[in-house]
Amino acid sequence: MNILELFAISPVVPVVVLEDQTKSVALAEALLEGGIGIMEVTLRTAMALESIEAIARAVPQMQVGAGTILNSHDLLRVRDAGGKFSFSPGVSDELLSTAISERITFIPGVATASEVMKAILAGITGCKLFPATAVGGIELLRGFSGPFPSMRFCPTGGIGPDNMNDFLALSNVDCIGGSWIVPKDAIGAGDFAQITALCREALVRPVRKVSKTEDSVV
Ligand code: 3PG
Repeated sequence: MNILELFAISPVVPVVVLEDQTKSVALAEALLEGGIGIMEVTLRTAMALESIEAIARAVPQMQVGAGTILNSHDLLRVRDAGGKFSFSPGVSDELLSTAISERITFIPGVATASEVMKAILAGITGCKLFPATAVGGIELLRGFSGPFPSMRFCPTGGIGPDNMNDFLALSNVDCIGGSWIVPKDAIGAGDFAQITALCREALVRPVRKVSKTEDSVV
């Protein structure tokens, strides 16, 4: 799966922090039930890789991948665990070169024009803008659309129900990432119905479309 195919799966990419591997399969099923077929499991907990492996094996309809990839070792471990893609908060030559040589679907994080240029030179078609609201959010993405007309973005960081549609309305945004849709306390309590409800609520929100040239609402 290439980056643009990945970005087309869902307008919302859940960013998951999983403390308990035994909850992983039920969580994946709850997201699917809510209409979301992609999830990013962050490599911030001891159980993250095992969770990716369990989901990939038990819930094949779910496109499960990883986030918080900081080095090539992580990238290869995720691939070996069955992860379909990897997001990084940043971009490095090491990660780009391993992703290319190993043919891994890798989405680097960018926050500056120079980082977008580095991604373009590596043949990357879609980047994560991170941390989206802190680095300029909507205005920065509008600014990027001029010099980088073909780069697609998945802004993540500081996005929730109140601002997701403003991001999704931008001509260069395909999807947004967020953790609000998978609250840690709901996962901890096993309240998967709440997570399914949050997915449905996010997906029914109207998405405004904007023209590619003017970013004006059409
Ligand atoms: C993260 O890395 O934690 C993600 O960017 C999620 O950010 P959020 O919690 O603001 O959605």
